[in-house]
Amino acid sequence: MTGQQDSPQRSSFFGDNALKLGVFCLNVSGGMMLSGASKPTLDWDENVSVAKAADDAGWEFLLPIGRWRGHGGKYNANAEQYECFTWAAAMAALTQRIQVFATCHVPIYHPMLAAKLSATIDNISGGRFGLNIVSGWNAAEFGMFGIEQLPHDDRYLMSAEWLEIMESLWAKHGELDHQGRFYTVEKGYLEPKTVQQRPVIVAAGQSPAGLDFGITHADYCFVGSDNWDLLEQTMQRCKTHAAGLNRELNALTFCTVVVKDTEAEAKRYFEWYVDELGDLETAQRLANNIISGGAQALPPELVAKRARAYVAGWGALPLVGTAEQVAEQLARLSGLGIGGAALGWLDYTEGIDRFNAEVMPLLHQAGLRTDTRSLS
Ligand SMILES: Cc1cc2nc3c(=O)[nH]c(=O)nc-3n(C[C@H](O)[C@H](O)[C@H](O)COP(=O)(O)O)c2cc1C
Repeated sequence: MTGQQDSPQRSSFFGDNALKLGVFCLNVSGGMMLSGASKPTLDWDENVSVAKAADDAGWEFLLPIGRWRGHGGKYNANAEQYECFTWAAAMAALTQRIQVFATCHVPIYHPMLAAKLSATIDNISGGRFGLNIVSGWNAAEFGMFGIEQLPHDDRYLMSAEWLEIMESLWAKHGELDHQGRFYTVEKGYLEPKTVQQRPVIVAAGQSPAGLDFGITHADYCFVGSDNWDLLEQTMQRCKTHAAGLNRELNALTFCTVVVKDTEAEAKRYFEWYVDELGDLETAQRLANNIISGGAQALPPELVAKRARAYVAGWGALPLVGTAEQVAEQLARLSGLGIGGAALGWLDYTEGIDRFNAEVMPLLHQAGLRTDTRSLS
């Protein structure tokens, strides 16, 4: 590959579908849920077959989660994880068109290293690499690296300096000298360059500082909630925040999906893995840590309310029902101005196969997907 391109033709991420689709959290055992119904171990062959099913059906992106240890509690969810960059490198080689993201914890990867890993995977994939930049919230993970977390808002200042260094390395030939508040780079050198001028960047911070970072630096910001009212309010809050920065909000969201023959069956299945087999205690601990980066103790009523949503999928919006109902809910997301959704299931293989067979044609009928390759 020679020379850098704006939007390589090979990636479905730059296609015309009004609602982009992504596979979320495939790289960790238990996926998005804190439930005894989740698979406790990882299976590489399953990762590959799900990724290929998404790629073949024209999905836009694969989004792994950056995780380094399990969450303890009843089931130790996410106890096994594939590291994101190496996972993305393999996925890049095994797929044709889908955009492959790595989720990157800024404090763990020096920008020189992250720029190198990114450029390598961008070359492997022919310009289909993306970065989900996360500043981190999980002290137990950072302790493994001997890293003490910065005060919450400083984490995003560090992320901005980190990205500035990477952008220079990706774009400019020659050597880079950088002396900043968080990093020093002496005669930084990076060849080959990325294929894309800049890999696609997404961010997921929801606090004011997190939104400042995402809206200013990312191509897309994740805006999420486990219920429609709150999602609408959060979208409004994020749009207002973006307007305050003289920017437009490009929003993606994240959802869990249950498709069954009847609505009652889908709800029963959801309630089984969430309410009967969920680890509410661990979810409460995590909810308290992740919201506001653990910077403040949250009112117990709020934590209790959020905990069920953490069991069900990290606070994701649950799309539960028949194929028609799930397609309608995805259309409703699009109506809110959301450009795409990262999806997860209790069982990824069954989930994506059923989604492709039953929901995808309805999304085409609704005009949300126009790329007909996904119907073949
Ligand atoms: C879609 C999505 C993906 C995320 N992925 C990760 C991840 O892989 N690793 C991680 O430590 N945090 C992850 N987070 C957490 C966010 O980076 C962030 O810490 C959290 O949303 C709190 O935001 P705040 O610090 O602005 O309050 C993710 C959040 C969302 C919504």
